[in-house]
Amino acid sequence: MRRVIVRITMIGGGYVGLVSAACFAEFGLNVNVVETNPDRLNSLKQGMIPIYEPGLDILVSNNIKANRLQFFDKIEEAIPDCEAIFIAVGTPPRNGDGHADMTYVHQAALQIAQHLKQYAVIVTKSTVPVGTSRRIAQIIRQTNPDLEFDVASNPEFLREGDAIQDCMKPDRVIIGIEKEKKDQGKKAQAVMTRLYQPLFQQETPIVFTNLESAELAKYASNCFLAMKLSYVNELADLCEQVGGNIEDITKSMGLDPRIGRYFLQPGPGFGGSCFPKDTLALIRIAQEAGAPVRMVEAAAQANDARKTNMSGRIINLCGGSVNNKTIAILGLTFKPNTDDMRESASLPIIHRLIEEGAHIKAFDPIGNEKAQPLLPKAVQYFENIKDTALNADALIILTEWSEFRSLSPNKLKEWMKSPLVIDLRNIYDPKTMINEGIHYYSIGRPQKA
Ligand code: NAD
Ligand code: UGA
Repeated sequence: MRRVIVRITMIGGGYVGLVSAACFAEFGLNVNVVETNPDRLNSLKQGMIPIYEPGLDILVSNNIKANRLQFFDKIEEAIPDCEAIFIAVGTPPRNGDGHADMTYVHQAALQIAQHLKQYAVIVTKSTVPVGTSRRIAQIIRQTNPDLEFDVASNPEFLREGDAIQDCMKPDRVIIGIEKEKKDQGKKAQAVMTRLYQPLFQQETPIVFTNLESAELAKYASNCFLAMKLSYVNELADLCEQVGGNIEDITKSMGLDPRIGRYFLQPGPGFGGSCFPKDTLALIRIAQEAGAPVRMVEAAAQANDARKTNMSGRIINLCGGSVNNKTIAILGLTFKPNTDDMRESASLPIIHRLIEEGAHIKAFDPIGNEKAQPLLPKAVQYFENIKDTALNADALIILTEWSEFRSLSPNKLKEWMKSPLVIDLRNIYDPKTMINEGIHYYSIGRPQKA
C-alpha cells in the first residue's frame, strides 16, 4: 500500500517538541517546528541542538538532511498543508498558586486560529489541566468561526536522558478525542492513527479515549510515580532509624509484579521539570474539583521537606558545621544524561551549604553551564573528578552520572583533606568503601562494614 507523506507542525522546539518532531520525522513524516526563542531557533536552523539529549543531535541532523525536518519562527509559514498541529510549549507552575500556567498554550492556540486555513487536528502534547483541549477549541472557534478543525489530547510520557528510546518505542500512546462528535471524532481518530501508524506496526498499545481522560492520564501517571518515590525515600529514612537495608527491601518489593521493580531507588528527592510541577498542578485541580488527592499532597510535601532537609544531614555528617569547609559536589542536574537543572535537588542543597559558610567545588559532566545562573557566584566549577575532589573535606554524589561510578578510594584518600563520601544516589557498596578506609554514608543502608 502506498504511504502518503504526512506533514505536521510542532509548536515549541524544547525537550518534548524537538524530540517528538525528530522522532516523527524519523518515522517518515514531514515535520515543521515553530520556535519563538531566537537563540534556540538559530541553533536549530544551524543543525545545532540547544539541549542535551543523547542521540538527538544525529537524529535531528539526519532528518534535516533528508528534508523531513524544518524550523520556523513564524507559524503562518509552518502550518499550510499540515494535517495536525501539535502544541508542545511549556506549562510551568503559575506564580503563586501552583496551577499550570497556560499562557503559552493559549497563545499558541490563538496563533493557530489566526493563521490556519485548512482542516487540521490541533493536538495538545504539553501536560495540561483537564479541560484544556476544549478551551483550545473555544479559542479557535471564537477567533476563526468558519474553520473546520478537531482537537485531540496526546500527552507525552518520555523521560529526559532516554527520550529518543521512549519516543520511538513508547510503552503506550494515549489519544483523547472528542468522542461525542460522531463524524468529526472519527476524522480526528483517522488522522492520529495515520501519524502513529509506525507504532501500530510495532504493536505499541494505543488507547483512544475522551479528551478529559487523556489529559488526566498524564498527571495520574506522573503523580503515581512521584508517590512511589516519596514512599521509598521515607522507607529509606525508616531503615536508617531501625537498622534495615533499603536495597534489600526494594528488591523484595520489586519482585512482586503488582509493585514492579522500577522507580524504587531512594535519593535526595525527585526533581526535574515535571514531577514537582505536575504533583502541584493535580493537587490544585483536585482541590478545585472538590475531590482532593491527599496522597499526592503528602508525596509532594515529603519531597519538598526532603530536598530542604538533605543539607541538614550533610552538615551533621560533616561534624555539625560546614563553615570554612570545602565540599566537592559531583553532579548538578536533576538526573544523569540531561543538562536540565529544573527543580534539581542540587539547588537547595548548595544554596544552604553556602549560607552555612561552605566553599563549594562542583562538577557536572554536562550541566556546569546551565547550573551557573541558578547557583551562588561563589561556587567554583571543574571539568573532572580529581580537580573537584582536591583538598575537599567531603565529597557528595548528587547525580548518578556513569563516570562517577568508578571512583578509586585510594585516589580519593590521596586527593581529599579527609575521605568523607556522602553518596545520595547509593551507587557504591558501603562495605567496599568502608573497608577501603572511606568514611562512607549512603541512603537507607547500614553504615558499617
Ligand atoms: P521547554 O521549555 O523545554 O520547551 C518549550 C518551548 O516552547 C520553548 O523552547 C519555548 O520557546 C517554545 N514556545 C513557547 N511558546 C511558543 C509559541 N507560541 N510558538 C513557538 N514556540 C513556543 O519545555 P518542555 O520540557 O519541552 O515541556 C513542554 C511540555 O511538555 C510541558 O507541558 C511539560 O510538562 C511536558 N512534558 C515534558 C517532558 C520533559 O521531559 N521535559 C516530558 C513529558 C511532558
Ligand atoms: C518523568 C517521567 O518518568 C516521564 O514518564 C514523564 O514523561 C516526564 O517526567 C514528564 O512528564 O516530564 P523525567 O522527569 O525526565 O521523567 O525523569 P525521571 O527518570 O522520571 O526522574 C525524575 C526524578 O525522579 C529525578 O530527579 C530522578 O533522580 C528521581 N528518581 C527517579 C529517583 O530518585 N529514583 C528513581 O528510582 C527514579
